[in-house]
Amino acid sequence: MKSRNVTVIGLQWGDEGKGKIVDTLAGTSRYVVRYCGGANAGHTITTGGERFALHLIPCGILHKGVMNVIANGVAFDPEVAVHEIRELQDRGVHIGPDNLSISSTAQVVMPWHKQQDLLSEQQLSAQKIGTTARGIGPCYSDKANRSTAVRVGDLLDEKILTQKIRLTGAIKNRIFAALYEAEPMDIDAIAEQYTRLGRDLGPMVRNTGAMVRDAFDNARRILFEGGQGSMLDIDHGTYPFVTSSSVSACGVPSGAGVPPKAVGQVVGVMKAYTTRVGAGPFPTEQDNDTGEYIRQKGKEFGTTTGRPRRCGWLDVCVVKYTADLSGVDELALMLLDVLSGLDEIKICKAYTYKGKTVKDFDPALMGKVECIYETLPGWSEDISDCKRLEELPDNARNYVRRVSELISRPVGIVSVGPGRDQTITTQTQIEGLV
Ligand code: IMP
Repeated sequence: MKSRNVTVIGLQWGDEGKGKIVDTLAGTSRYVVRYCGGANAGHTITTGGERFALHLIPCGILHKGVMNVIANGVAFDPEVAVHEIRELQDRGVHIGPDNLSISSTAQVVMPWHKQQDLLSEQQLSAQKIGTTARGIGPCYSDKANRSTAVRVGDLLDEKILTQKIRLTGAIKNRIFAALYEAEPMDIDAIAEQYTRLGRDLGPMVRNTGAMVRDAFDNARRILFEGGQGSMLDIDHGTYPFVTSSSVSACGVPSGAGVPPKAVGQVVGVMKAYTTRVGAGPFPTEQDNDTGEYIRQKGKEFGTTTGRPRRCGWLDVCVVKYTADLSGVDELALMLLDVLSGLDEIKICKAYTYKGKTVKDFDPALMGKVECIYETLPGWSEDISDCKRLEELPDNARNYVRRVSELISRPVGIVSVGPGRDQTITTQTQIEGLV
């Protein structure tokens, strides 16, 4: 039987609008599973006139009857989680063991990870990655290092946790003093704080791999919610200017503990233009009035850090590459309304490197290529109330058609505003994506 599961991923450098798509699909899903990243992510959802910014809790939390899973591939920050849970509860959202599960094998982001992220970026100065300072890189480094890692299951055993924190905390204090001349952290206070956090979260900690595999075996619909964007993937992005986990659909099986065939249909979410936060190559960047127009109109400021995002034209070389990497079935084209009012709109459709056209996309070349643009006529009408493709101005419809053609994939939906109803369904084959 064909899987009804869906994986939603970002095809650029994050902030593509995945939250809105996941929120739409969550209504027909039984499980919503985060498999990568951590509190560096920021999903903004507008529902019932209210705006929710979620960092760690999966978007399905706003729907009844959905089990939300923070799986083993996540860098889990218990402090952020407890804070986010309380904030949501204060706004009337129910959260408990019946709708939130946290993997006992997810890695814990510890205070020293956040400190190291900051100190390391400060020291790197001009060479910095431009991280969100959420401790993501140092946490995944400790995961690979093993002996200095703390996993969620450890939070539940005070004795083991205290032992681990004392041992690792002492190591970190010595490293930070030597490398950054930092003041030592209060290890006992950390042990107490994390024991408390473990007590708060304990009822929700589970073997989520077994739970999600069981759901798959019983044909319950699972939605895998990607964080960041594929160009930030640790293996396949613009390394080293990437995040530290496997954010493409390739990361789903190991990040959630499911067989590859559980991935199901893949929806690739892309903006009608490009943005990036942090350092790293960005060939279509418009550090000019056009970029500023997009930034202001698209409110392109980070959900997690508030940083202004770098803005530029759509790069289909990027999107074609990331869509191929994850086997994307359909595209969700977001924020088309932001392009209204521009006389001309450009799409980068190829690169040249040393005077020759680049045939095979290579993220390592991205800082060195020249863009070949195609220029399309813009449109002046406000399209944010359009409900059907036919209602769009000819030039906007033409833009959608050309994007689909250049990426060789159907555009399943077009988004023209943050609201759930500001969505144009074109030819989606994905159940529930309306
Ligand atoms: P880190 O994930 O905090 O280590 O940051 C590494 C890079 O990924 C930086 O360029 C961040 O700006 C970027 N990044 C991480 N998470 C997101 C996200 O959710 N949206 C956009 N960029 C992100």
